[in-house]
Amino acid sequence: MTDILSNDLKGKRVLITGSSRGIGAAAARAFAEAGARVMLHAHATLAPAEALAKEIGAVGVMQGDFTDMDQVRRVVAGAIDKLGGLDVLINNAGTMVGRKRLSELTDEFISQVFDLNTRSAIMASQAAYSALKESRGCIINTVSIASRTGGSMGSGMYAASKGFLSTYTHGLAVELSPDQIRVNGVSPGTIMTDFHRRYTTPERLANIAKAVPLGRLGTDEDCVGAYLFLASNALSGYMTGQILEVNGGQLMP
Ligand SMILES: NC(=O)c1ccc[n+]([C@@H]2O[C@H](COP(=O)([O-])OP(=O)(O)OC[C@H]3O[C@@H](n4cnc5c(N)ncnc54)[C@H](OP(=O)(O)O)[C@@H]3O)[C@@H](O)[C@H]2O)c1
Repeated sequence: MTDILSNDLKGKRVLITGSSRGIGAAAARAFAEAGARVMLHAHATLAPAEALAKEIGAVGVMQGDFTDMDQVRRVVAGAIDKLGGLDVLINNAGTMVGRKRLSELTDEFISQVFDLNTRSAIMASQAAYSALKESRGCIINTVSIASRTGGSMGSGMYAASKGFLSTYTHGLAVELSPDQIRVNGVSPGTIMTDFHRRYTTPERLANIAKAVPLGRLGTDEDCVGAYLFLASNALSGYMTGQILEVNGGQLMP
């Protein structure tokens, strides 16, 4: 299995958005270990991303704020230019932005959540389309368990933004199948990264951990296998339009 993976991913040109920390950084490390040529992307956490790129021998780091679609297009075009094409686009940049209930929502907040978590993935995919068509590559979208549960108190807008992306993953998979571009998603459960350190209390996290069938919260490394698998034509070449749930059994059909 490890041999299949490293032979298959060796030299693959991979752009991982939101790879300065957390799930994206863990995925970047794993793709680099498998011999892929990785381009990182960061917004505010630039210095750690540059240090990670150096450590894992990545091609570089592109910086951009993904609430701004011109910056999304610039990052993707720059990555394709520096990588000399693209085989795998991982749309992972995202966050909750804040917990707000219905009465607190503003147009600005809704736009920020939707632009970062949804629109940026759509526009990155559009910017990568020609390169992926040429390579018969693939797109992997990071969605969320919240896209199926509706999220926890105050995270409904974030959950809905990921729900949109999850549905669009299926729609885009159908649309891009004639080009042999596969489109899939990874849906993390409750993963202990800065995301929850920032937006969820330790008490609530302890309660969630108790309710997870596997008895603990996830780590960024728990998510990595799903990305490697979906990027590998040898292992998942006949899979498209699928969402892999990585949640310790937190959600079952
Ligand atoms: N942790 C979980 O439980 C969980 C569950 C389901 C889904 N997810 C999703 O998994 C993905 C990764 O999250 P994580 O847990 O690894 O969180 P994280 O550690 O907070 O990392 C978030 C990543 O997104 C980037 N990002 C945030 N705002 C950005 C902006 N305005 N422009 C461009 N990039 C931006 C960050 O870049 P900078 O730091 O450089 O700004 C960082 O690389 C996200 O899409 C998140 O919604 C997480």
